[in-house]
Amino acid sequence: MNYFRSIRTQLSAKAKRMFRTPISHELPVAGADRHLAGDLTAEELRRLEQLAGQFPSMGGKEIGPFLRKLAREAPSDMAIVEVGSWLGAGTAQLAIGVRERGADQSVTIHTYDRWIATGGEIEKALRKSGLVLSKNQDTLPWVMEKLRPFGARIKFVKRDIAAIDWSGGAISVYVDDASKTPAKFHHVLRTFGPSWIPGITVLVLMDYYYWEKTGSEGHKCQKYFIEAHRKHFTHIDDFRRGSNAAFLYREKLDFEGVNFSSLLHPSEI
Ligand SMILES: C[S@@+](CC[C@H](N)C(=O)[O-])C[C@H]1O[C@@H](n2cnc3c(N)ncnc32)[C@H](O)[C@@H]1O
Repeated sequence: MNYFRSIRTQLSAKAKRMFRTPISHELPVAGADRHLAGDLTAEELRRLEQLAGQFPSMGGKEIGPFLRKLAREAPSDMAIVEVGSWLGAGTAQLAIGVRERGADQSVTIHTYDRWIATGGEIEKALRKSGLVLSKNQDTLPWVMEKLRPFGARIKFVKRDIAAIDWSGGAISVYVDDASKTPAKFHHVLRTFGPSWIPGITVLVLMDYYYWEKTGSEGHKCQKYFIEAHRKHFTHIDDFRRGSNAAFLYREKLDFEGVNFSSLLHPSEI
């Protein structure tokens, strides 16, 4: 099923133009110098798949086919946003999907993270792929270098979630693997939500079921939000070996007015 095709025609040309506001460049665009148009050969696709398979992953690689499909089928001229790239495993999958669009390379991936190696992440990188990181290492140069061969247009924003802003226009795909507590999730909702397009934007919430592992009430914030706004979101898919769930943003929501209490247990309101 193409989640986008049926609704693509409904978006008026005027609305598309309205959303094409440029975003400021935070860091150099990976791959800007090569491959920005034209079809992938089968051989090149195999090479990128092989490279993508080598990234240490906390879930992005495992849901790779889904991310690729979303990026491949996303409407032209809209942004893909990823919050919580870590070492770029999911970004690589999105980048392959963008390259699979062939000549239509109008889609930019905007990826956000603080890209500072913490204790748990150092241990995971080593365990998952033998990558040695040092404490507090700035991992962004490594990530950019590894994503460069993918040749997709990627903007990297190295910033704490609390300070993220957005002026990049309409968002077709929103992937979040970092905003798992109420304050962070509230901030990203108010930041990115107004650029989600009803009937088009797909949300991939990679920590949706995280609370099942941690037992933490705070980690249920995404679930409480979705449940409090049921008519605005349609559940599309689950990837229960990870903690992921995907939703289609269906009906316009006033994100400015989203109450923090809607992210908390109903008894705490
Ligand atoms: C679970 S990992 C992402 C894994 C990645 N999506 C993958 O599939 O491999 C979460 C990421 O969120 C980032 N993160 C967590 N809290 C953050 C914050 N407050 N500001 C910026 N980045 C944050 C961490 O640096 C980490 O890289």
